[in-house]
Parts: sequence; C-alpha cells; structure tokens
Amino acid sequence: MQNLMYGQITRALIGSTALLFICMTVQADEMSTAQFNYIMHCQGCHLADGAATPDKVPALKQEIGRFLHVEGGREFLIRVPGTSQSALTDEQVAGVLNWILENFSPGELPADFIPYTTEEITRHRQPLANVTAVRMDLMAQIEIMGTNTVLE
Ligand code: HEC
Repeated sequence: MQNLMYGQITRALIGSTALLFICMTVQADEMSTAQFNYIMHCQGCHLADGAATPDKVPALKQEIGRFLHVEGGREFLIRVPGTSQSALTDEQVAGVLNWILENFSPGELPADFIPYTTEEITRHRQPLANVTAVRMDLMAQIEIMGTNTVLE
C-alpha cells in the first residue's frame, strides 16, 4: 500500500516537473532570447518596463536612445557596469542592448540607428571606473543637443 502511494507520488512529481520544463521552453520560445536575458539579468534593477527608480536607477524607457545622438554615448551603453559586468556573453549583450533600445526607446533612436554587433561589444567592453562623471558629461551633451536641435 505504502509502495503504491510512493509510486503515485513519484509519477506525479515526474509529470509535473516535465510539465514545468515544457512550459518554460514554450515561454522561452515565445519571448526572444534577448527579452529573456533582460528579465534574468537586468529587470531586477531596471524594472519590467525600463522605468526609473528615482535616485537609484535611471529610466531606460523613452531615454536610452538619446545616448546614441552624442559622442561616446554608444560606447557608454556597453561600458556601464550593468552591461559590461553582467554574466552575459558579448553576443547576448548585443542582443539585450538592441532589444532595450528598440523596445523601450524607439522614439528617441536616431533615424540611421545601426544595431550593436557582437564584435562591437567585444571591442568596447571595458567597465567604466568613473561612470558617474562620464554619465554627467553625456547628459550635459544630450541636454545641449535637446535644446538646440530636433532629434533626427
Ligand atoms: C544592480 C542594479 C543594476 C542591474 C542588475 C543592471 N543595471 Fe543598468 N544601470 C544601473 C544603474 C544604477 C545605472 C546608472 C549608471 C550607474 O550608476 O551605473 C544603470 C545604467 C544603465 C545603462 C545606461 C543608462 C543611463 O542612463 O545611465 C544601461 C544601457 C544599462 N544600465 C543597461 C543594463 C543592462 C543591459 C543590464 C542587464 C544585463 C543592466 N543594466 C543591469 C543599475 C543596474
């Protein structure tokens, strides 16, 4: 009797584990690998929709694309610690950055936006030591650009 019960429990466990794996696979197929990597590696700080956490994490939403209009901005997005020090491969970083830019900030992207390539990530992936200073400088450039020119 006891053995029968254990057998049933074991079968139920195997069944539900298999089902869980199937669900996870289906989900991973439906969402892109880049989105999945965003959820696993970035969303903890940058939230599901890329919104800001005031005084802690800046918004990616309707903001991140602006960096591509100023000198050094493109490299900054690679070198910022959240990106450069993540556990992702260079190929995955390129995918996540392109996904973030295209999903959270399409309106701010330059008209001639060229997606990141793995090779570009490899070339620039050195973490910034002075992230705050570099960021402030870029933000100042973005502000000047915003008041003087219309985003292309
Ligand atoms: C531990 C929290 C944390 C995690 C995890 C994190 N970030 Fe960030 N991210 C930040 C903070 C804080 C900033 C602002 C710059 C700084 O101080 O590093 C930032 C800035 C950025 C920026 C530049 C935007 C700006 O306005 O400065 C990009 C791009 C970025 N993160 C991408 C990513 C990506 C991609 C991932 C996942 C692979 C990630 N981040 C994971 C906290 C995080």
